[in-house]
Amino acid sequence: MSTTTLTTSPGSEPTATGRTERPRVFAITSGKGGVGKTMLAANLAAALARRGERVLVIDADLGLANLDVVLNLQPRRTLHDVFTGQGTLDQALLTAPGDFQVLLAGSGLIEYSRLTPTVREQFARLIDTVRPHYDRVLIDTGAGISDVVLYAISMADEAIVIATPEPTALADAYATVKVLGMQQGRTSMMLVVNQTHRHGEGRHVAAQLQSVIDRFITLPEGGTIRLNPLGEVVSDTSVRQAVQRRQLVMLAYPGSDAAQGMSAIAMRLATLHPPAGRLPMPAGTLVTLLPVPEPVATQDASAPAPCAALPAEADLAGAAVTDDPH
Ligand SMILES: Nc1ncnc2c1ncn2[C@@H]1O[C@H](COP(=O)(O)OP(=O)(O)O)[C@@H](O)[C@H]1O
Ligand SMILES: [Mg+2]
Repeated sequence: MSTTTLTTSPGSEPTATGRTERPRVFAITSGKGGVGKTMLAANLAAALARRGERVLVIDADLGLANLDVVLNLQPRRTLHDVFTGQGTLDQALLTAPGDFQVLLAGSGLIEYSRLTPTVREQFARLIDTVRPHYDRVLIDTGAGISDVVLYAISMADEAIVIATPEPTALADAYATVKVLGMQQGRTSMMLVVNQTHRHGEGRHVAAQLQSVIDRFITLPEGGTIRLNPLGEVVSDTSVRQAVQRRQLVMLAYPGSDAAQGMSAIAMRLATLHPPAGRLPMPAGTLVTLLPVPEPVATQDASAPAPCAALPAEADLAGAAVTDDPH
């Protein structure tokens, strides 16, 4: 069986379906690590699914993948297997609690933290293959502005930047916004402020960031970058409790401040960018996805066990390692 002819064009260019369409692929990114990208990706997906959307989350934090830990899933097949030809995309697509689908990176993906031509091509093919079948695809990227992170974001129609009120996180968010504007020609980005100390602080943080952008960034084509604030999520012990229980806060504590913040963010996102519509997922279509252009080293058998075996907090503490632009 052969697959459809796949293009490698990112963004809102014509895709494998041959249509120019409205935004469907959203990268969730941040300058600093540990600010809540994975938390937002998973809970936003659940909130959007609750609104009736068919959502896919791709774990593209290739070096520090931990979506599996947050969702308490132990996949038999991961993106790593798909990329190395050891599994099919259909096998790697899992349904997560919250009724959305996920593609988990797998612990062997460390070799993909370098942006080789193989990684580029496979990632582009992956996005073009899945995009017609979902209303929305959320890419949970790594932190910082490494080439692999920037490439993952370049696959997205829209970037959602996460910042926290902490000065270092704000400075790193600014650096990310600037690079995305200068290198990818993005003139607007969405912003989520996470871990605010009180309601309304997010608005203040967004205004502060916007004023620094207006003062210091001029894009090569002229003009500057407009932030589109999606909302805020307050710092809430329910989030940490949910992580401890390896559940989504949207499901475990739906009435919590954090869950309500994320429902509001989902509503605003769906208002700004209504679900794009999707093709049905006929059985077998995604089975023969990716020809492997060149052999890729597989995981060393003596390597440490997958992170799913670790306690959630231990693993998440590791996720705080940043690719700090400074
Ligand atoms: N709104 C919040 N309130 C309380 N704790 C939070 C909140 N958002 C994130 N956290 C904590 O920060 C940790 C790291 O979040 P995570 O989503 O893994 O960050 P990232 O993916 O950006 O590295 C979470 O495990 C959680 O304990
Ligand atoms: Mg993460």
